[in-house]
Amino acid sequence: MAVLRREKGQSLQGSRIAVAILIGILLGCVFAVFYPHGFFSSNPTGSHRRIASSNLQTGLSSCESPERIKMVKSDIVLISEKNAELKKQVRELNEKLQLAEQGQDHAQKQVLLLGKQQKAGPFGTVKGLRTNPTVVPDESVNVRLAKLLEEVAVHKELIVALANSNVKTMLEVWFANIKKAGIRNYLVVALDDHIVDFCKSNDVPVYKRDPDSGIDSVARTGGNHAVSGLKFRILREFLQLGYSVLLSDVDIIYLQNPFDHLYRDSDVESMSDGHDNMTAYGFDDVFNEPAMGWARYAHTMRIWVYNSGFFYIRPTLPSIELLDRVAGRLSREPNSWDQAVFNEELFSPSHPGYDGLHAAKRTMDMFLFMNSKVLFKTVRKDPALKTLKPVIVHVNYHPDKLRRMQAVVEFYVNGKQDALDPFPDGSDW
Ligand SMILES: *[C@@H]1O[C@H](CO)[C@@H](O)[C@H](O)[C@H]1NC(C)=O
Repeated sequence: MAVLRREKGQSLQGSRIAVAILIGILLGCVFAVFYPHGFFSSNPTGSHRRIASSNLQTGLSSCESPERIKMVKSDIVLISEKNAELKKQVRELNEKLQLAEQGQDHAQKQVLLLGKQQKAGPFGTVKGLRTNPTVVPDESVNVRLAKLLEEVAVHKELIVALANSNVKTMLEVWFANIKKAGIRNYLVVALDDHIVDFCKSNDVPVYKRDPDSGIDSVARTGGNHAVSGLKFRILREFLQLGYSVLLSDVDIIYLQNPFDHLYRDSDVESMSDGHDNMTAYGFDDVFNEPAMGWARYAHTMRIWVYNSGFFYIRPTLPSIELLDRVAGRLSREPNSWDQAVFNEELFSPSHPGYDGLHAAKRTMDMFLFMNSKVLFKTVRKDPALKTLKPVIVHVNYHPDKLRRMQAVVEFYVNGKQDALDPFPDGSDW
């Protein structure tokens, strides 16, 4: 489009002098009569056309004076200048349009929406965005839940656990220690009526979904995997209502208030399945292939997975996209494990044929948000680490969950120093 216009303009300019003289002579008088104050007010291109048509209509006129010719000449120069300026503007607009059409200026559009473009600051002072804006709360998603969360949440955040009757005894230890730690903002999403009654009789905030809702029929009739997908679908509503959720399994002992130990700078802040600095926080795992000779060492980035049974998720678009992607894949791939899918969606980079998630993530301190491998393999044998009080302990690495949960309470709450000793590091099979 820009190119076409430019060619047209050049041909006009090429014959400019001839046209100027001719038109000047022919139309000096016409201008004097009809346009005593000049005609170049707003649309130079249009004026050109107007000159031409006036010429045809009026034919030759008589009163051509040198002043008139001069005036018309200077007017035409003015047209050309205005024309050039206009073309420049069109060119610039076209460039902007092209950029937009490439679909690669998403970030630029966000900048236009959110604020001013910035210059980069001096060396070492520059930080990219990692804290995404929260979504506008949408109460219409679930009015009943919105009302409940107004009562339960503190500063728009709360702990949420899903529970059915199979985990009732663990749930009891779970909320007993939450209460003991002085935490008020927590909620049990009951998957059956027995858990509703159990929570009510223990003064535990409980929520059960509307039995008519599409999600809930999954809970009743769906297999294991459908139910694990359920967690992510239910969480979505909390986020849509504008709440940050600390999602919690029930095999977790609370020793301090976790909300005093969050950074809140990322979409997802999660505890790790890692057991030392390297595995929890990432490391360069060097792959050795001697046949490659000089290039035998290939470097890889590794990190132990995030634990999808304990993570803090902020109500942002990337967070909700994560939940949707995980729930979608769990329903399409019935043999997949929700924690594996959660990590794949969170960490896989964009590549040909695939758009990665681009969520901001943070790994929690492995000694504050401790998994049971760290506790039984390392901490309980280390006199210094033994004295530190974690925020939570997640008995995720051991199948004898209830016994180990009780031992954790004995050790950290009741100060029984040998409470952890009877257990092997791993499970006995
Ligand atoms: C792990 O990292 C922390 C923090 O960087 C450091 O203080 C500690 O010494 C490290 N531990 C080991 C065993 O390297």
